[in-house]
Formats: sequence, C-alpha cells, structure tokens
Amino acid sequence: MSTARTAEHPVDPQFTERWSPRGYTGEALPREQLMSLLEAARWAPSASNQQPWRFVWALAGTPAFDAIHAGLMAGNQGWAAQASALVVVLSVRSQVPAGQTEPKANPWASFDAGAAWMSLALQARASGWDTHAMGGFERTVLDAALQVPAHMAIEAVVAIGRRGDPAVLPEALRAREQPNARLPLAALAAEGRCDFGA
Ligand SMILES: Cc1cc2nc3c(=O)[nH]c(=O)nc-3n(C[C@H](O)[C@H](O)[C@H](O)COP(=O)(O)O)c2cc1C
Repeated sequence: MSTARTAEHPVDPQFTERWSPRGYTGEALPREQLMSLLEAARWAPSASNQQPWRFVWALAGTPAFDAIHAGLMAGNQGWAAQASALVVVLSVRSQVPAGQTEPKANPWASFDAGAAWMSLALQARASGWDTHAMGGFERTVLDAALQVPAHMAIEAVVAIGRRGDPAVLPEALRAREQPNARLPLAALAAEGRCDFGA
C-alpha cells in the first residue's frame, strides 16, 4: 500500500485499499461472480427508492464485450482489452413514479447510479476482484450499440478484472499503476458553510 493512502481519520481499510488498476490478468470472471457484484449494486440507496441504475454487462471473449470495448476511447481501449468483464452503468433520467401515470425527470439519477457503482466496486474488492470506471467512451457509438433508450443515459463503463503485473502496461501507464492520493479533508468538508479554503 502506497503512503499516498494514509487516512487522516480512522476508516475501514476497504475505502483506502480500493483503487483502479489498468493492468489485468485476463482471468475469466465467472458469471455468478459478476451477478454477485451486480447484486451489491442493486442494494444501493436511491431517491424515493426509484433505483435509477441499469447495467449492461459483457464477459470477455463475447461479441457483447467486443461491442462495448469498441465504444471506448482509444486511451482506454488498450488496457481495458485485458479486463474480464465490462459493465456499462446507465441512469434512468425520467421514469413514472409509483402511483403516478406521467414520467417525471429524476434529478438524482446520476447521484444514485454513482452510489450503485461504488457498491459494485467495493463488493468486487471484497471478492478479490478490481474495477476501473471509465468516462472515456464514445457516447454515440455506445448509445447505438446498446440501443440506449431516450430516457436513459450512459454514466460510465466499468472494467472488472483480477489485478495483474504492471509490466504488461505501456511505460506511461505503468508509472501510474499505484494507489493515488486525495485532497485533505479540510479542503472537502467545512462546518456550516462553504469554507473550503482557496
Ligand atoms: C466517472 C469516472 C470516470 C473515469 N474515467 C476514466 C477513464 O476514462 N480512463 C481512466 O483510465 N480512468 C478513469 N477513471 C478513473 C479515475 O481516474 C480514478 O478513479 C481516480 O484517479 C481515483 O483513483 P482510484 O480509483 O485508483 O482511487 C474514471 C473514474 C470515474 C469515477
């Protein structure tokens, strides 16, 4: 563990021990294991329990994996090819609330989908797997490939795999293959008003 991950206050180690590698072994991810990760995501909290998260998943070696991979930006395509699975996280931007008939915009859809992705990431780590979220994808390509309906939006693509030897990575990525740091808590949390320093 890098010293970049020293907590300022006591936390469960799962929070500092999760990080996003790019070097993966390519080991096959059992379908049941993937379901366990998605199950963790299912139990995330959401505004009015609307559960505005959806997941399109694909295991390595399948046409579905290739289609999602083809929608990644070039910088992600290289390393993500070694992932064991790719999961596209979508949010439901508008839906019909319980007891109503008209669809209503959900302003918390992204917030809630983010909570679900984090649950997936922490469950993956607890199961000996790693995750790496990517905002670097071609939206028009993935929207078409996945037939994303108008009331949903892709939030990110998540690579899942077993952390591997950084030596498989190109030099520039190899140097970054370690846990990174965080802003000090004082720059992120303030009492009573937005006093976060400069
Ligand atoms: C929404 C989102 C989008 C991201 N997009 C990319 C990406 O396109 N490519 C990449 O290599 N990493 C991407 N990352 C990974 C972040 O750079 C990484 O999470 C951040 O540096 C913190 O490091 P850690 O996850 O190892 O703790 C993304 C992460 C998130 C949450």
